[in-house]
Amino acid sequence: MTSPERGQWGTKLGFILAAAGSAIGLGNIWRFPTTVGQNGGAAFVLIYVASVFIISLSIMIAEFAIGRHAQKNPVGAFNSIAPGTLWKYVGLLGVVTGWAITSYYSVVAGWTLGYFFKTATGQFSGMVTSDEITEVFVSFAADPLNVIGLHALFIILTMAILLAGVKAGIERWSKILMPILLLLLVLLVVRSVTLPGASEGLSFYLEPDWSKVSMRNVIAAMGQAFFSLSLGMGTMITYGSYLSRKENLVSSAGWVCTLDTGIAFLAGLAIFPALFTVPGLEPTVGAGLIFVVLPNVFNQIPLGDLFGTGFFLLLTIAALTSSISILIVPVAYFEDEKGWSKRKAVLVSGAVAFLLGIPSALSVGGVEWLTDLVSIEGRTYGFLDMMNLMFGQYSLMTGSFLVALFVGWKWGVAGARTEIEQGNPAFKSRAIFAFLIRFLCPLAIALLLAYLLFYDPNAFA
Ligand code: TRP
Repeated sequence: MTSPERGQWGTKLGFILAAAGSAIGLGNIWRFPTTVGQNGGAAFVLIYVASVFIISLSIMIAEFAIGRHAQKNPVGAFNSIAPGTLWKYVGLLGVVTGWAITSYYSVVAGWTLGYFFKTATGQFSGMVTSDEITEVFVSFAADPLNVIGLHALFIILTMAILLAGVKAGIERWSKILMPILLLLLVLLVVRSVTLPGASEGLSFYLEPDWSKVSMRNVIAAMGQAFFSLSLGMGTMITYGSYLSRKENLVSSAGWVCTLDTGIAFLAGLAIFPALFTVPGLEPTVGAGLIFVVLPNVFNQIPLGDLFGTGFFLLLTIAALTSSISILIVPVAYFEDEKGWSKRKAVLVSGAVAFLLGIPSALSVGGVEWLTDLVSIEGRTYGFLDMMNLMFGQYSLMTGSFLVALFVGWKWGVAGARTEIEQGNPAFKSRAIFAFLIRFLCPLAIALLLAYLLFYDPNAFA
């Protein structure tokens, strides 16, 4: 039964765009190119796409089904399908992960916001060498007041939208802004692939070299897919809980995965050809990649400042439609399960994420010991890297693994199928879905997690 007071998405398109709005964000435009760069290029891209459609798509359908069936936040949802069991802790893991991911996501979104101000005031125009542009990023990211201020601004924006009531807002904005972002990205791709010398980057990105593929690449691909598709911490359970029984979960999930992967692919196509035309830049530079490559591209475009300004603005907005979908998980938990007012839930959750983000903000050159926090088998991790590793990777993999176990073995495919068949009576892929969610997904994730924990802790590096 649907409780009318929960409110619902307006239309199927509205839901798909809202879920795509959650999925499409820094994960696609910042983290995907960074990860591709560190994992050797084209072969990784193919492994990534396979991992999206073989593993992640099933997890997304499962999360939608749990959410729509229970019509509740993740903790409440596990509790109502499996009352009195430990499964509610999967929901709680999502609450904690939501705080943690918001905290560093907001730091990177703050950089984006900072780059919006920089391009808007023409700070890159006239810079001719890539060293100058790299230096701008290095000193920008290391300036404590700057990065903490921007992080605070971004969290405040996220909290303001959550307070104003999410659903109508997200749905309306996603419909307008996603297509504009897509358009700008396409223009950027056109410029990038027509730069003199683009072919080197194109072959890095599009011509797979299978001889260099390792288990590390497979793990990184799976982790990136969960992050980019907002899986493993309850975001999609929450979004599914606002979806009407008339809609088709399978095709909606298919659309979200396709749109998200398409945008990530375009982002790579904009970055890599340009990257290889800049002397001295390596694909492996890490977190600063897009902030170093893109200003170089904008400088080679007529009206580049205007273009760059628009791009960083839209990227900030894409990051906002994602960050609200992360922080909404703790917020909905305190509202529904603890009876807090929305105001209190948003203020407390936002404050926790802000405070937790401060060490991340200071860990990219700002404070030395946070920048070189730990060293695992010779590889140094800063605080932000550590947060990303623990929550953006391990926790999402664990959460996705448990969602698969829950749907495959606890709730059971029969129960999930009944839910999925509402709005999709034929459900043609039910046998495949049952196989994937019961066997392939949990086994594959468990194997990769075990490899990571016991064999190669630097697999994500
Ligand atoms: N998927 C978003 C991005 O690519 C980030 C995000 C939103 C997320 N909700 C999430 C990541 C839940 C992990 C879990 O930017």
